[in-house]
Amino acid sequence: MTSRPAPHVAMRAIVPGHIAIVMDGNGRWARRRAQPRSFGHRAGQKAVRATVAWCLRNGVGVLTLFAFSSENWKRPSTEVGALMDLFLKALDKEIDELHKNQVRVRFIGELSAFSEAIRTRMQHAAIRTASNARLTLNVCVNYGGRWDAAQAARRAAEAVARGELDAAMIDEQTLAPYFCLADVPAPDLFIRTGGEHRVSNFLLWQLAYTELYFTNTLWPDVDDAELDRALDDYARRERRFGCAPTAARGG
Ligand code: FPP
Repeated sequence: MTSRPAPHVAMRAIVPGHIAIVMDGNGRWARRRAQPRSFGHRAGQKAVRATVAWCLRNGVGVLTLFAFSSENWKRPSTEVGALMDLFLKALDKEIDELHKNQVRVRFIGELSAFSEAIRTRMQHAAIRTASNARLTLNVCVNYGGRWDAAQAARRAAEAVARGELDAAMIDEQTLAPYFCLADVPAPDLFIRTGGEHRVSNFLLWQLAYTELYFTNTLWPDVDDAELDRALDDYARRERRFGCAPTAARGG
């Protein structure tokens, strides 16, 4: 899927409509500077801001970020506390600018685990920006791909119990609407920074035909040049969605 460019955006020929990112490497970035991990997360927030601006400039329609996984609660309480503090401050600080830039912000995951203060701010941010249409920013927090599959199965089972869904009719098409992000096209491009070549329980259902791009760059060091490289690499891919190669490539 190629998104429709904003009229004032200088467009490349092929732009992924939806980019999903695992922002890895904040801790190592901080350690290299003899700083606590929270220092890396704060630097990571700046890279998030730069990435949103880059998406707006390039006409990307949906950006989905893995900001906090279901497993991240197992980190030392000081780091979890620092991350929660960062989310709270970011929610207060960034929303005006995002709204001004017509960004729709949503929080995806098991939100009940967060404090009342964070949940209220997440809800306010989502409601305030709901009708913005230039970029949809999905921030995945306390999210896991397996959790997503389980909640989709549970909600489908509830629909069966209510008599709204026939269990015998459950297939990929009828189950798809129960997954998170069912209202946007699947990611075209997945980027993972920080050198690991793993999906790490992110969007397991949604990434079925997504192009994968891995870079050793640590998340706080990600800049326009790095994102441009990912885009250039994506533009060279032949997306087949399980079909045969095109004749042009001699398949
Ligand atoms: C992974 O790096 C990063 C995280 C678990 C947190 C991501 C959070 C941010 C980028 C902060 C800002 C986000 C928003 C949406 C305001 P790591 O800590 O696992 O790094 P390491 O692999 O080097 O240890």
